[in-house]
Amino acid sequence: MKFSIYVASFFLLSSLQVFAEKTPEELSSTCLGCHGVVSYNNIYPTYKVPKLGNQHKDYIVSALKAYRSGERLHPTMRAHAVNLSDVEISKIADYFSSFKLSEQKIQSSDIKMIDEANSCVGCHGADGNSMIPSFPKIAGQYEDYLYQALKSYQNGQRTNAIMSGIANTLNEKQMKKLSKYFSSNIGLGKINQGRVALKK
Ligand code: HEC
Ligand code: HEC
Repeated sequence: MKFSIYVASFFLLSSLQVFAEKTPEELSSTCLGCHGVVSYNNIYPTYKVPKLGNQHKDYIVSALKAYRSGERLHPTMRAHAVNLSDVEISKIADYFSSFKLSEQKIQSSDIKMIDEANSCVGCHGADGNSMIPSFPKIAGQYEDYLYQALKSYQNGQRTNAIMSGIANTLNEKQMKKLSKYFSSNIGLGKINQGRVALKK
């Protein structure tokens, strides 16, 4: 009797151990079903699932915690984030942020700035590759996702002390132009089969 309890708890502990030691790849594999598929759409409203490859770790962590707490509303992402521990979130963020832009460093002469972006560059960088870890990179992100994000800050679906105020100053045409501009730069990448495709 004692022995079988011992055996049972041994198996329980070892399975917990396996769970605790999930690698970043294992933890992130369910995410790739959406975030790893090229041009995979969210439905109602329709926009592409955002790219995560090469995103700042700090921003991924804060986004996942916002979904976990319900502060950022999206039913699917909440379902994926709700049971993640801080340690797991950190590992997942390490995984996605580890896909770095290496070879082709962006030449500043390649950037064709638009006037509308003047108010964004202080935080997101001239091309959208922000240097500050808590400000998301938006360069190379899907155009329709960027537009959806700006729209959500404006209509209150997504709230952020900084971005809500900024989005409120933008009209429809400016939001479209900004989304097109930042998405056209090189930066974020699509993770596909363990690699990141940096070109769109
Ligand atoms: C069923 C598809 C789906 C799956 C699976 C999924 N996501 Fe998402 N994810 C989305 C969509 C759609 C959004 C955009 C939601 C929004 O507008 O807030 C998103 C947004 C995000 C964001 C915010 C990106 C940004 O730029 O703000 C992060 C981070 C993220 N997901 C991480 C994950 C992780 C980690 C997993 C796995 C544990 C995962 N996702 C699984 C569809 C999915
Ligand atoms: C003072 C700093 C600051 C400025 C200026 C700023 N942003 Fe942001 N931006 C942020 C922060 C911080 C976030 C993350 C907010 C969150 O967690 O929802 C963000 C998020 C975003 C997102 C969502 C990214 C994602 O992956 O979901 C978009 C799109 C965006 N900003 C576009 C812009 C544009 C366009 C401008 C200029 C008109 C601008 N931002 C100006 C700080 C800034």
